[in-house]
Amino acid sequence: MNFEFYNPTRLVFGAGKLSQLGEITAQYGKKALIVTGGGSVKKNGVFDRAVTSLKTAGIDYAECSGVEPNPRITSVARGAETARAEKCDVIIAIGGGSTMDASKVIAAAVLYDGNPWNLIAHGQENWVIPTQALPVITVPTLAATGSEMNCGAVISNDETKVKSFVQAECLYPKVAIVDPELTTTVPKDQTAYGVCDIITHVTEGYFTGIDGTPIQDRWAEGIIINAIEYGRKAVADGQDIEARTQVQWASIVALNGWVQAGVNMMPPVHMIEHALSAHHNITHGAGLAIINPAYMRFIARTRPERLAQFATRIFGILTAGKDEMTVAMEGIDAYEAFLKSIGCPTRLSEVGIDDELFEQYAEDAVLVVRDAEGNLPGRPALSKDDIVAVLKSAL
Ligand SMILES: [Fe+2]
Repeated sequence: MNFEFYNPTRLVFGAGKLSQLGEITAQYGKKALIVTGGGSVKKNGVFDRAVTSLKTAGIDYAECSGVEPNPRITSVARGAETARAEKCDVIIAIGGGSTMDASKVIAAAVLYDGNPWNLIAHGQENWVIPTQALPVITVPTLAATGSEMNCGAVISNDETKVKSFVQAECLYPKVAIVDPELTTTVPKDQTAYGVCDIITHVTEGYFTGIDGTPIQDRWAEGIIINAIEYGRKAVADGQDIEARTQVQWASIVALNGWVQAGVNMMPPVHMIEHALSAHHNITHGAGLAIINPAYMRFIARTRPERLAQFATRIFGILTAGKDEMTVAMEGIDAYEAFLKSIGCPTRLSEVGIDDELFEQYAEDAVLVVRDAEGNLPGRPALSKDDIVAVLKSAL
């Protein structure tokens, strides 16, 4: 293992912490741009509580509402324009991963003169890595992406149907105010998709990382086991605050860099899913529920021992009298059964996707991340034909 670890985001975690938003924001600015999604935070009172806290601390605000799921670069441009016109000096994201991701890029786009898509065009033409951004405060209302405490953002370009990402040091939120009470109104399906996203953030590194990372393995397994246990409970009873709390904590540690430290993680399942959700408006976590088991079965051909470890340590699959491949497949079946049990789709046909654009998805996936041979990095790296094979097996 040979790595650097850095995560400067201050985490303020616990039920009721939303009330601290005003005093915390006052440390970073005088006028906030509040970024929100489809309006649930206004219906459930979270927005009003946030504004009350800001007003008490003497913070003025402007609004950028209506950030869509799979957030678009046009929303980023709109938010940046508002922030400039209103002279905002701090960005507050109140919402799910889409809202938080858009907020980070808005914060950078405010200080960038060119086309904001350049900041997202990872591996593509005119790609620019942002070096400065306004301070961002994240207030997640959904446990899923882990965006609250990392420096990444995923944004879609509706014109070109490319979904790409940015990771830059200046995008680390200054503070993440994580209040699990805010997630108790999330519906069952979105709760389940969030759980799948959390688990997939961990499995990406678990299946693509280097050998010889035993502590990271056990952390990864601990996060997955707890996401399954408390994810089930949170889906069954949304008001179960203990379950919501554990799922929310899992979402943070799944992608704040700890579990990936030294692992050299690659995100092939995410890259394939992003290609799907750029063309079809499916929820990220639902797309992952379809792709991840298919991907696992594909890589089990070359790495049965790793998948067998997943099977025994996560699902307690018994090994006596079985070869590694059998154990591996039983583990993947158990994972797929879990996803189904919480209401996730596990086949493309369930979300209305057929094989018409498979070649295109493969092209799009390697457009964003590719190795020197043009393959999607991982263990093994996937050629475009391999990606199509994974997709076919998920039909
Ligand atoms: Fe994700």
